[in-house]
Amino acid sequence: MSEAREGTLLQRILDADSRHDPYPLYDRLRERAVFQEPDGSYVVTGYAEVAALLGDPRLSADPANSPAPPSPPFSFLNMDPPGHDRVRRLTMRHFGPPNDPGRVEAMRPHLFGQATLLIDALRGRDEIDVVADVAYPFPVTVVADLLGVPREDEPKFHVWAEAIVQAADWDPRDRSPSAGVQAAIMELGAYMMGLIQAKRRDPRDDMLSRLANDDGPEGALSSPELTGVAILLLLAGHETTVNLIANGMLTLLRKPDVLARLKAEPGLETPLVEELLRYEPPVHFTFRSTLADVDAGGVTIPAGSAIRLMLACANRDPARFQHADRFIPDRANNAHLGFGSGIHACFGAPLARLEGQVALREMARRLVDPVLLDEPPPYRINPTLRGPRRLRVRIAGVID
Ligand code: HEM
Repeated sequence: MSEAREGTLLQRILDADSRHDPYPLYDRLRERAVFQEPDGSYVVTGYAEVAALLGDPRLSADPANSPAPPSPPFSFLNMDPPGHDRVRRLTMRHFGPPNDPGRVEAMRPHLFGQATLLIDALRGRDEIDVVADVAYPFPVTVVADLLGVPREDEPKFHVWAEAIVQAADWDPRDRSPSAGVQAAIMELGAYMMGLIQAKRRDPRDDMLSRLANDDGPEGALSSPELTGVAILLLLAGHETTVNLIANGMLTLLRKPDVLARLKAEPGLETPLVEELLRYEPPVHFTFRSTLADVDAGGVTIPAGSAIRLMLACANRDPARFQHADRFIPDRANNAHLGFGSGIHACFGAPLARLEGQVALREMARRLVDPVLLDEPPPYRINPTLRGPRRLRVRIAGVID
């Protein structure tokens, strides 16, 4: 069929009908490592090219530099150096070494406890929805506790987060944020600003309190800066790890041999989660624009161009990964791009890894004879943050 009749290959990938399995289309997309869409934007598909561009300082993550219609910026995710580096550095002080080395590892018992509570609650059920019952509530509770956001406010975030994340779907043909999204961002911003003021007055042992009262050598982030950081962390914690756990369980249900290995081999969850981040990554692509002419994959991308970097497509590049379409739970040298790379490489990766490992290991261990009920399951519309909307599973019981 001609492109005119059915749209370009990329447009077919973005179409909701392709969501359950974009990988055969990615294989075709990868026939050209770098190419231009009819709207003038560029698409980068090969592993070597995506990895190189993620580390290239001539690319900008700031939507203000993009020729595409404006989209809401999310704190340091959408900033360039030197501003990016300062805000990320100040935020990182309270999330890991050297200033706060134990922060994530100290959460392990808490994570285990939360996963245990959620799985205990499945006792007596013969059908569960992995998304609603575990994959969603687990990381949401964890990130709320990390930041010090009251759990009872979660239903409000769910609505705001959904509205905002849908808008982050970047369609070069129409990217203006809708009025609903603007309203959701304003409401979430006002909520966070109030919470931060409360944390400045009455600090607790949580990350927002520490950030709000930082007395480090560079001082604290300003209130607007910290509001942006809090929104970014809350959304990133809501909308990505959910897909890691849901895509992970789906993969295990489709591959009973791997599920059996995970039950039998303690420690397998560590490389298995890395392979999931390669094979079924929660984030399928990201966006940049060029600040100068950039050569990639034999193409010169002119300054001022919008670029879509296809992380999930690069993760299946046979030029980088042997048996790229096979799920190998203990794959060695797994330099996947599931968390991106370069200066914007995922800030929350240590926490996301731990969450995925704990949730998948505990579900594999405790759910008796799980059987997938919908093949394929229904997917969320979002092509960027890709994952099942619902994952119905029949179980024969829950063990301790
Ligand atoms: C499995 C779950 C996750 C995946 C797959 C994931 C993936 C990613 C990717 C691909 C990027 C790079 C985006 C780009 O280059 O444009 C990124 C950035 C980021 N992630 Fe994650 N993420 C996950 C979980 C989390 C969590 C739990 C948090 C917070 C606690 C988080 C916070 C961030 C932040 C703040 C950035 C921006 C970093 C920067 O611009 O310097 N992520 N993530």
